[in-house]
Amino acid sequence: MRRAVCPGSFDPVHLGHLDIVGRASVLFDEVVVAVGVNASKNRLFTAEERMEMLTEACAGFGNVRVAGFTGLLTDFCTDQGIVAIVKGLRVAADFDYELQMAQMNASLAPVETVFVPTAPQHSFLASSLIKEVAGLGGDVSGLVPGFVLERLTARIAERSRGA
Ligand code: PNS
Repeated sequence: MRRAVCPGSFDPVHLGHLDIVGRASVLFDEVVVAVGVNASKNRLFTAEERMEMLTEACAGFGNVRVAGFTGLLTDFCTDQGIVAIVKGLRVAADFDYELQMAQMNASLAPVETVFVPTAPQHSFLASSLIKEVAGLGGDVSGLVPGFVLERLTARIAERSRGA
């Protein structure tokens, strides 16, 4: 059993994430989509909400499950018997940052990082940008699953009412 992890914040999940998860699911026997649960970070969605959306979004992949993790990703990998961390690379700047993390992670545990080039149609996607555009009234309907769009729209409306 070759198990990989696709880690991230997923606040919220978008189509670029799902493309990488789907391609990882072809390469590995099992893929764990691991949501970083770091209380100190300011998120639009709670960890539970992010995991709910991911679970729904990944339901069509037979060998993908969703989990939360705290602390070091490498400790999660060791606990879960994970041999590879799969990361999507969008642009050259991603590589500089991701290479450093991959080397640090490899120094901490016997885990390889596998870089997957993002599909060109997703190379500009980032959850932070999607939230910014949606918050300013822009159309992000082609960038996230429909049920994520609904929750995103509702959350932005709540926030703008001060809820
Ligand atoms: O979607 P993001 O915010 O880019 O995801 C970043 C994440 C969660 C993958 C990264 O911050 C991470 O691995 N955090 C776990 C803590 C850790 O192991 N830090 C050392 C990294 S070398």
